[in-house]
Amino acid sequence: MTGPRGYTYGSADLETSPVSLDDLRKIEETILWTDADRQALLRARPILEPRTDEILDVWYGYVGDHPFLIESFAGADGNPDPDYLAAVRERFKIWVVDLCSREHDQEWLNYQHEVGLRHTSAKKNLTDAVESPAAEIKLRYLIGFIVPLTATMRPFLAEGTSDPEELDAMYGAWFKGVTLTAILWSEPYSTSW
Ligand code: HEM
Repeated sequence: MTGPRGYTYGSADLETSPVSLDDLRKIEETILWTDADRQALLRARPILEPRTDEILDVWYGYVGDHPFLIESFAGADGNPDPDYLAAVRERFKIWVVDLCSREHDQEWLNYQHEVGLRHTSAKKNLTDAVESPAAEIKLRYLIGFIVPLTATMRPFLAEGTSDPEELDAMYGAWFKGVTLTAILWSEPYSTSW
């Protein structure tokens, strides 16, 4: 497998997601996901893929501006751990490309399950072998991130098209993609999912 350290998309070692493909289709219907969204994200990919470093600068700037968020990246000494931040950054960049282009199939579901767990006390800190005092990401912030991870993308998409309808299509599809991600990643947190 290629990709950054800890990126295990498609690995046979991943657990099968407890979310079935049938569940996934119902969630997609709930958020009004259609094939037009999939096509719009495929068109967004070549706009966003060359810009993932700049996108991550924006997102990490936002996290860094909020002490209660950056503390999730603390190392053993309680300060932000640059190696941890750097390792997650590379996987985050791939997530942008994957969200634009991966099929919503069993392999994709399994990796959503894995990354959901990596935000909970079940698996946070394991992938990068950090001894962080932050044992989990709070669900409230995971849901809250839908807004900044969506809103900050609009200027990048706008630079890739001069057609307002095309911008709306890509931006709307990105919003649905981030929402779908947060829904799937919320599964390990919830007893009534
Ligand atoms: C890991 C995205 C919410 C902190 C990651 C990764 C991605 C990501 C793509 C790397 C996944 C991989 O290992 O392949 C997102 C998205 C969120 C979200 C889409 C919400 C919609 C949050 C929040 C925080 C946070 C609210 C709190 C500051 C972290 C940390 C890791 C991580 C600390 C590393 C976890 C580990 O130890 O493996 N996130 N994230 N994330 N994220 Fe998030």
